[in-house]
Amino acid sequence: MYGYHWEERTMKAAVVHGFGETPRCEDFPEPEVEDGDLRVRVEAAVLETFDRLTVRGGHYASRHLFPRFPAVVGHSGVGTLEDGTRVAFAGLRPPHGAMAEVAVVPREHAAHVPRVPVEVDPATAAALPAAAMTSLLPLRYGAGLEPGQTVLVNGATGVAGQLAVQVAGLLGAGRIVGTGRNRAVLAELPGRGATAVIDLAAPEDEVAAAFAHQATDGIDVVLDYIWGRPTELLLRALVPSQVGLATRRVRIVAIGEAAGPTVALRADMLRTSGVELRGAGLVDPAVLPEAATQVWEWLRAGALHVGVDRVPLRDVADAWDRPAGGRRVVIVP
Ligand SMILES: NC(=O)c1ccc[n+]([C@@H]2O[C@H](COP(=O)([O-])OP(=O)(O)OC[C@H]3O[C@@H](n4cnc5c(N)ncnc54)[C@H](OP(=O)(O)O)[C@@H]3O)[C@@H](O)[C@H]2O)c1
Repeated sequence: MYGYHWEERTMKAAVVHGFGETPRCEDFPEPEVEDGDLRVRVEAAVLETFDRLTVRGGHYASRHLFPRFPAVVGHSGVGTLEDGTRVAFAGLRPPHGAMAEVAVVPREHAAHVPRVPVEVDPATAAALPAAAMTSLLPLRYGAGLEPGQTVLVNGATGVAGQLAVQVAGLLGAGRIVGTGRNRAVLAELPGRGATAVIDLAAPEDEVAAAFAHQATDGIDVVLDYIWGRPTELLLRALVPSQVGLATRRVRIVAIGEAAGPTVALRADMLRTSGVELRGAGLVDPAVLPEAATQVWEWLRAGALHVGVDRVPLRDVADAWDRPAGGRRVVIVP
């Protein structure tokens, strides 16, 4: 099958035969286990924007993850080792991915495979940690949030954004403002810890006025999952009406670009606004283990909540492009 030469055992997996395809459940050779590797019986593999973009072919990681086809999709998941230990895994050897019955973690990653706490179910363990890290890393380490400060989450209706609202609360933020278009999710944000919400589906002058209102009260950190036009409106709102020196640092962290890849950055948006633009990747890698431990502790304590949809592997094609609606799809073999 497929021209592979090893002694084959086959498994069910989400397979693509080229960039731009929708993955389908097919038979595929099980990955080989080499010395020091970990064989995992997969229980859940997360489906994120990253997976869709890399399979489409235009992402900078596309050719690294898919050097040849056919290939199994999925970049991370959760499953059990031969001895029953439940682990979270990533970094698989192409052409194998996480959306399969079996995954093999290469030995160079095997030492860093985290154990999943028994209190955390496999789908939650697959779905939440990476998304939670997108806010924990900039808030605690990159932008250095201090207790009592104000956080604005631009795109708080997405999975990572909903978690960002909760993470900001867990880190002691004072005011937490969430923005988004999905009104059902916006309505849930106060229950997750948001002190105010801004409806980005409202007419633009109303959105601009809402940003201006929040800017008057002061914003310390913006976690930006969407960029584009909403961020432009926010930047305009942060321009002070009086001449003078900036009175407050406003650290804007670029994480995603769901609303557009560019903003028109006028000079006055920086001159005296206190705005500092930074990327989510501006974090010392040495903090990663400590941050990951924190996320697992929050999950163990049941402190983070986002809707998770468990989809059987055989239905992966139907789930692939389904609108997320503020929930995370997890593929279950
Ligand atoms: N592991 C991770 O989760 C991870 C890691 C690194 C980076 N990121 C990045 O973080 C971003 C969010 O990820 P996610 O998984 O939370 O995505 P998601 O659940 O699909 O959420 C997407 C967010 O973008 C908003 N959005 C989409 N199109 C928009 C538009 N045209 N105008 C305004 N808002 C728009 C959505 O708002 P509505 O639903 O209200 O329309 C929602 O808040 C993505 O760019 C992703 O690449 C995520």
